[in-house]
Amino acid sequence: MRNLNQDTITDAVLARHAGCADPRLKRILTSLVRHLHDFAREVELTEEEWGRGIEFLTRCGHITDDKRQEFILLSDVLGLSMLTVAQNNDKPAGCTEATVFGPFHVQGAPHYEPGADISNGARGIPCLVRGTVRGVNGEPVPHAQMDVWQSDEDGLYDVQHAELDHAQARGILHADEQGRYHFRSILAVPYAIPHDGPVGELLEAAGRHPWRPAHLHFMIEAPGYETLITHVFRSDDPYLDSDAVFGVRQSLIADWVEQPDGTYLVEYDFVLNPAAAGSQAGAGNEH
Ligand code: BEZ
Ligand code: FE
Repeated sequence: MRNLNQDTITDAVLARHAGCADPRLKRILTSLVRHLHDFAREVELTEEEWGRGIEFLTRCGHITDDKRQEFILLSDVLGLSMLTVAQNNDKPAGCTEATVFGPFHVQGAPHYEPGADISNGARGIPCLVRGTVRGVNGEPVPHAQMDVWQSDEDGLYDVQHAELDHAQARGILHADEQGRYHFRSILAVPYAIPHDGPVGELLEAAGRHPWRPAHLHFMIEAPGYETLITHVFRSDDPYLDSDAVFGVRQSLIADWVEQPDGTYLVEYDFVLNPAAAGSQAGAGNEH
């Protein structure tokens, strides 16, 4: 265990984990160490560069609080969030696809009756959202719970307005007996993810923009079905092919149709995947 060199150090570290009692943790640690070491060797990482890497991660930590989560942003812009979603949400054909959760969901959003206006004063062009929630065999999912959130016309979520002390453009509603839902809100617009911190500097240095195409977020829960975390995207958005967090799926794109009175209408039908036998269906998830 002395005189380790750049080639022998990897096995020495892995051997140090031989006594790890948790097999899953051992597998993750082993792979992480292998890939980190291979990465450092491949790019011939200098001490100065790794120092800058640590300084970057430190700044991610310092800017993170209960309203700002720089590590989620980092995972999102590196495509790791979407990769994890993709490999854990392989659903049967016909089911609505999942996409990134993002950092702006808030537990305990206000509850609304069907048809209510969830904008609650948020700035934006009025918009009616409606559709159905069904299972893969076409059966209605009665009373499915829908947690919805979106940004305002300035591209900001309520939690990004420091002066705001109540929820806006977010809420929890239920579908009716036939799985139909409808609510009012505001027109979704493209927005830039927070880019005034280290992740923004990374995007800038990499020659990338911080924009996400316009979308509504949904988390849908119903007994007997897998919880669905997804978005519905606007079909006319210029950023559909360059989403900063790689979340777009073709099947999640819908038309927002302007009405004669200048308001908008979007219709989208969700299809839920039945929960695996024995799982805690509809019991909520850990987000
Ligand atoms: C969002 O859609 O709210 C979001 C997702 C990833 C990063 C930032 C925002
Ligand atoms: Fe969003």
